[in-house]
Amino acid sequence: MMNIVPIFHRPDLARRLTDQILVAGVGSAAGSGVFLAAPRRTGKSTFLREDLRPMLEAQGVVVVYADLWANPTADPGLVISNAIRAALAGHEGVMLRLARNVGMGKLSVGSMSFDLDRIGLGKDISLTDALVALSDETGQMIVLVIDEAQHVMTTDAGIAALFALKAARDELNSSLHHGLRIVCTGSNRDKLAMLRNSKDQAFFGAPLVNFPLLGRDYIDWFCHEVMLPFSLDPAQVWPLFIETGYRPELLGSAADQFRFEFEMDEATIPQKFADEVRRLTEELNEVQRGVIHSLTPIQSAVLRVMAAADQHYAPFEAATLEKYRKALQLSGQPPEEVKVDVPGVQQALIALQDKKLIWRAARGVYAVEEKNIIDLLRADGLLDGLL
Ligand SMILES: Nc1ncnc2c1ncn2[C@@H]1O[C@H](COP(=O)(O)OP(=O)(O)OP(=O)(O)O)[C@@H](O)[C@H]1O
Ligand SMILES: [Mg+2]
Repeated sequence: MMNIVPIFHRPDLARRLTDQILVAGVGSAAGSGVFLAAPRRTGKSTFLREDLRPMLEAQGVVVVYADLWANPTADPGLVISNAIRAALAGHEGVMLRLARNVGMGKLSVGSMSFDLDRIGLGKDISLTDALVALSDETGQMIVLVIDEAQHVMTTDAGIAALFALKAARDELNSSLHHGLRIVCTGSNRDKLAMLRNSKDQAFFGAPLVNFPLLGRDYIDWFCHEVMLPFSLDPAQVWPLFIETGYRPELLGSAADQFRFEFEMDEATIPQKFADEVRRLTEELNEVQRGVIHSLTPIQSAVLRVMAAADQHYAPFEAATLEKYRKALQLSGQPPEEVKVDVPGVQQALIALQDKKLIWRAARGVYAVEEKNIIDLLRADGLLDGLL
């Protein structure tokens, strides 16, 4: 059968990461895990699923994969518990161990069929117990891969899962067991950074690295595999790819526009292809701009001040309220019409969250959802005077 979407594989990157994940250097915090950050739609999840996971498995590691974005309505804490349960399900011996732990004899396991629902946060078998049993039974290191890990911070169950993982990590990385490593990815560096800021967190001190974007070798592959009625020159496509922000989909969609153009004049192809890629990139930006321009004055002010403040945003402080007023004035609101107070700001924050422009952690820490939004605001001069 033909692959539906062909994938460009990155075995070298997978090998290098695998090596680093599996070693625990002296005095290194790598035992806490590693954080990989890269912008949206640049191929993080594809790499995790198609390259990193198989490479880790080939090294004799049990991989548990949790994608916290696959189902946006599912609680991140539950998604992690479910991923761990799913990993156990294939191991009869692990189930027997756990059943014995909760006082079910060997015989009763067969007849009662041990229930996976008993494992989880606040259940009689903790995530630590479950991971310990898996480690002991398989004799293998476990690597827990959490895609879009920042979402654990948005709910109480997610935060509880973080603490559970810290306990599990400390236990499994002791000499009694075979080790636990945690690999997290996310599209926003600031949000990921929050996960490792506090000493009581599972990931304190874990390295945060920029996940390498797809490179020129990807473009060579793309031009070779794209199967258009005409050929594309990698030397011309590479700078276009950079312009799109290293997002493969934009090249793919542009190519789709020409799939049935059997009579294109070879000479005009490069220009037409470039125009199409730029049009699609611009179209994406326009959608986001549309959302930004339809904000109410106070919503816009709150978003701009947050974007300008970067990591030091404190929504309700007097100095911040003053900044909102300034932002309103800068966008031409007459000062007498401008009423800025805490309830108003609270409402604006909720509206911005609904519009997916900002993100809120369970403890009331805010961040702009995507770097792209900040880039657009800056490009349109909407941060002028606020930085
Ligand atoms: N190595 C690759 N080869 C071919 N296509 C790729 C590759 N990596 C990513 N893509 C394509 O790019 C798009 C985005 O990929 P992916 O979902 O992996 O990115 P992401 O960074 O996880 O995005 P998000 O921020 O939405 O989570 C997908 O359509 C995918 O098919
Ligand atoms: Mg992804």
